[in-house]
Amino acid sequence: MTNCKITILPANKRVTVPKGTVLLQAIQQAGVHIESACGGQGVCGQCRVKIEEGRYNTETTTQLSGQECAQGMCLACLTLVEGDLTVSIPRLADWEKAQILEGEGGVTLELGHWQINPALKKVHLKLPPPSLDDNLSDYERLRRELHRRGFPDRHLHCELPFLQKLGQVARQHHWEVTVTLIQSDTVVDLIEIEGGDVSQHRFGLAIDVGTTSVVVHLVDLVTGKTIDVASSYNAQAACGDDVITRIIYSQKADGLIRLQKLVIDTINRLIEEVSSKHRIDFQRIDSIVAAGNTTMTQLLLGIDPRYLRQDPYIPTANSFPMIRAAEVGLRVNSHASIYCMPCVSSYVGGDITAGVLRSEIYKQEPLTMFIDIGTNGEIVLGNKDWLVAASCSAGPAFEGGGVKCGMRATSGAIEQVRIDAATFEPTVRVIGQGKPVGICGSGIIDGLAQMLMAGIINRKGKIYTDLGHERIRVADGIPEYVLIWAKDSATETDIVLNEVDIDNVMRAKGAIYAGFRTLLIEVGLNFDVVERFLIAGGLGNFLNIESAVAIGLLPDIPQERFKYIGNSSVIGAYLALVSAELREESERIANSMTNMELSVSPAFMEEYLSALFLPHTDLSAFPSMREKLEQEYS
Ligand code: FES
Repeated sequence: MTNCKITILPANKRVTVPKGTVLLQAIQQAGVHIESACGGQGVCGQCRVKIEEGRYNTETTTQLSGQECAQGMCLACLTLVEGDLTVSIPRLADWEKAQILEGEGGVTLELGHWQINPALKKVHLKLPPPSLDDNLSDYERLRRELHRRGFPDRHLHCELPFLQKLGQVARQHHWEVTVTLIQSDTVVDLIEIEGGDVSQHRFGLAIDVGTTSVVVHLVDLVTGKTIDVASSYNAQAACGDDVITRIIYSQKADGLIRLQKLVIDTINRLIEEVSSKHRIDFQRIDSIVAAGNTTMTQLLLGIDPRYLRQDPYIPTANSFPMIRAAEVGLRVNSHASIYCMPCVSSYVGGDITAGVLRSEIYKQEPLTMFIDIGTNGEIVLGNKDWLVAASCSAGPAFEGGGVKCGMRATSGAIEQVRIDAATFEPTVRVIGQGKPVGICGSGIIDGLAQMLMAGIINRKGKIYTDLGHERIRVADGIPEYVLIWAKDSATETDIVLNEVDIDNVMRAKGAIYAGFRTLLIEVGLNFDVVERFLIAGGLGNFLNIESAVAIGLLPDIPQERFKYIGNSSVIGAYLALVSAELREESERIANSMTNMELSVSPAFMEEYLSALFLPHTDLSAFPSMREKLEQEYS
């Protein structure tokens, strides 16, 4: 078999692959993170590369303009390596400079009336040495002491490796030992025995396993303080941006194994980062709480997720047994346990349960809508008396997918757009302040709102091509607005928003808004009675509320009702890590949430179609936009 050498610029990484390898795989194999929202299906257009030299074979695609093809651009997922190649990636996913919401690091959170009381405990014991008068076995001796310390004897349980160590450790350390145990309502699991007193060395991890990013909090379980936080993009993104693409990928040969390995590798890298920085032996980490959506949780545990997208959409489990970290390959103490935050349904996961735990809406009076917008929109509505939950598929538009110049919120992404209505000239803010590379979710929402307000597009999202301005043009038959000229962009190509992009964003925002409305309709309410609107998740924090209302993504209600609550998933996981009571509370929350299947609600499609306008078909629902737009279209 002929091998080919691939050189990847600007990272200048090299990899050797067999002739006929898909270029996207070769680039990923070289450890270069390239945007690939659709997981290599040739539909997102994000994996574009420029072939500097060498032999290749590529399929034609509508994702690239004639000009781009003439410049040697191609989609890496549609290109086969035919010989040695040098390729450059104009839109590199700079994961190191990503805007990832890490939660509230470095603080001990307010636990209300709950105490720092982790389910995992280390108990220091001085056992009386055996004698002819006190001749209980080692295990009975230990149980007797634990019983004296308040652990019910009938609940105590251990596995064989514990017994195999017990006799030797106890004698070597003159019967002074530390026992690590995990306590629940009905069982006290003895998981480790060590010599001497190491009861003050207890560390745990709270992890948000997001579809896009992973956040790890290293927590001192004695004080409850977060020692450090680390985050990164989820390396599974190489297999697609959204959960559906990942589920499809999991069905390939070794797909599930690869997806599990990628997320475990991501977490292990972050564990290494925080533990080595603080010189904490990873063997001292013995408790983990992970919060993720249902797909991410199943992939983390290596559970086949295929049934999540097959009618009637039933997950393998909503509540997960405690498992050993070693079973999934996490680099911590091999006895460490992982608790996964309980899910509600196939598309309302443990991250939402964690968010509800964090936001405390389940114990407060005001009627609250909690939302998390990403590739899916998850919604919880309720208060201390009742909670309903639903989800709707938004697609990857808010993560930059399905948008020609879209990208994640990393260095070089346009995150804010203003357009002068008189001159049509834009002003943008770029993450990292360098030359722009593309446009991320918050920039896309801003851009759309500004184009509407400036009269560049109509309420159907169609561009007025007769405005006689050089920024408004038709390229390859598709009307577009040039946000950044090639000379000012890092990619040396124009950064545009075109009608296809706008259409994708309108469908995404339409699905989310229809989700809000349908959930309210199902419980016989409307936006007027929603007293608080809590926005969680990555996009939420960088979202301009005014722009989101202008395009009809968010309802037109008084601005003071909106509140960002950041990465509530990781904070909820933190709470369940440091408090056994809050861990049990999270089980109760998940069990108490009624899941609504929006797709079977007759109202959903009607609401969705009504929401496919800017901001909405019914302008009376958007009074703050009404006057402006009625002037525009009168
Ligand atoms: S078009 Fe290549 S990964 Fe999406």
